[in-house]
Amino acid sequence: MSEKMPKLRAALDGVPTYKPGKPAAAGGPVAYKLSSNENPYPPLPGVLESAVAAAGAFNRYPDMACTGLMAELAERFDVPAEHLATGTGSVGVAQQLIQATAGPGDEVIYAWRSFEAYPIITQVSGATSVQVPLDEDEVHDLDAMLAAVTERTRLIFVCNPNNPTGTVVRRAELERFLDAVPSDVLIVLDEAYREFIRDAEVPDGVDLYRDRPNVCVLRTFSKAYGLAGLRVGFAIAHEPVAAALRKTAVPFGVSQLAQEAAVASLRSEEALLERVDALVAERTRVAGALVAQGWTVPESQANFVWLRLGERTVDFARACEQAGAVIRPFPGEGVRVSIGETEANDIFLKAAEAFRKEL
Ligand SMILES: Cc1ncc(COP(=O)(O)O)c(C=O)c1O
Repeated sequence: MSEKMPKLRAALDGVPTYKPGKPAAAGGPVAYKLSSNENPYPPLPGVLESAVAAAGAFNRYPDMACTGLMAELAERFDVPAEHLATGTGSVGVAQQLIQATAGPGDEVIYAWRSFEAYPIITQVSGATSVQVPLDEDEVHDLDAMLAAVTERTRLIFVCNPNNPTGTVVRRAELERFLDAVPSDVLIVLDEAYREFIRDAEVPDGVDLYRDRPNVCVLRTFSKAYGLAGLRVGFAIAHEPVAAALRKTAVPFGVSQLAQEAAVASLRSEEALLERVDALVAERTRVAGALVAQGWTVPESQANFVWLRLGERTVDFARACEQAGAVIRPFPGEGVRVSIGETEANDIFLKAAEAFRKEL
């Protein structure tokens, strides 16, 4: 092979590949997947029926404008349809937001550790990541993030609650931050886990966006609504941001199955949110049990908990996996454990207790 290889953009050199949560081993002993913050409940019958009905027409392209879903979301959030944009999961919309705002020479600020797609989508666009360490309580350090703003800053992610720590920023500090960031910098409030929040002091990003043209809210149907496999998320943002999202969207990215299931989910919200309540109750139980075992657990407002284990991270993950619960290690840092079925959480808690006793 003497021919030259196709030239690729140098910006892609060293881009880490997104690591999905490890699946539970097939065919082995009982194994539960607590590694991707998914909803452990299967689809509600009505939601499944809508998707199945849509499947009968998948020889056709989907409705590119997601008209039905847009109308439903506009009503649900009391926002103009022009302020909405959908995408292939909220990670797809996040990528579109960066494409719309930042390229070579521009900076994107986010807390670290946070959602692992942020560095990838930033680097792919050719922009530069500015990672601001979480504070000692594993919470966004908004003062440090503000201090990191330069004239090259184009976009700031605030992940609330933060993945993987589950920690939140509250109303007063977030409002102070939003008001201090220059108005030509886009602030993206990534609220993928919004429905799991029970702390009344955590603001709803949709309230904050209304009179702030540089604030955009990201939401997803993947977590509380249980549609992770269908890939549909959305943004709520003022013009011209929402219009830019429509320009950067992959045409026909959101399938008709996803659109119909999302609409059906919004119409079945009560039943879905009861399931979210059950997961929140499990979160309280799991966190309480871990604390009783002697672990330090940052207060989580999401559907997962975080344990900072440092050098013992990989051993801990292995012990959980051997016990039948696959969790998400971040080697050298800690583990993120999704809240799953009661049996799964019990298996994890037992493994955590045994590991703790050996320390
Ligand atoms: C903070 C955060 N944002 C966005 C996403 C993307 O989710 P999706 O693309 O499934 O909507 C995730 C998924 O793990 C997440 O944790």
